[in-house]
Amino acid sequence: MLDKPAWGKTCEAVQDLVQESKDLMQDFTDSDALDAAVIPAQQSVEHDEISRYGTLRTWAAHLGMKKAVKLLEQTLQEEKKTDELLTQLAEETVNLKAA
Ligand SMILES: [Fe+2]
Repeated sequence: MLDKPAWGKTCEAVQDLVQESKDLMQDFTDSDALDAAVIPAQQSVEHDEISRYGTLRTWAAHLGMKKAVKLLEQTLQEEKKTDELLTQLAEETVNLKAA
């Protein structure tokens, strides 16, 4: 869209959250609390994505990049929906199982 090559940079904060989830999965293997233990780290990843996509959408809007705004808004809404579903899963099922 911008006629520039795509590039990326590894986010160490998200990498740490992924490792945290892996560690928790080992710590809670065969435990009824496994999912309850892992969901918070996964939601932290979603929150990071919400922050970044929201910022990028706003910057695109300031630059008048309407097509980019539409795509970034769509992705932002997907991340928010995932966060909501994780909350719902935790509150309605996973936390009760863990208790
Ligand atoms: Fe996500």
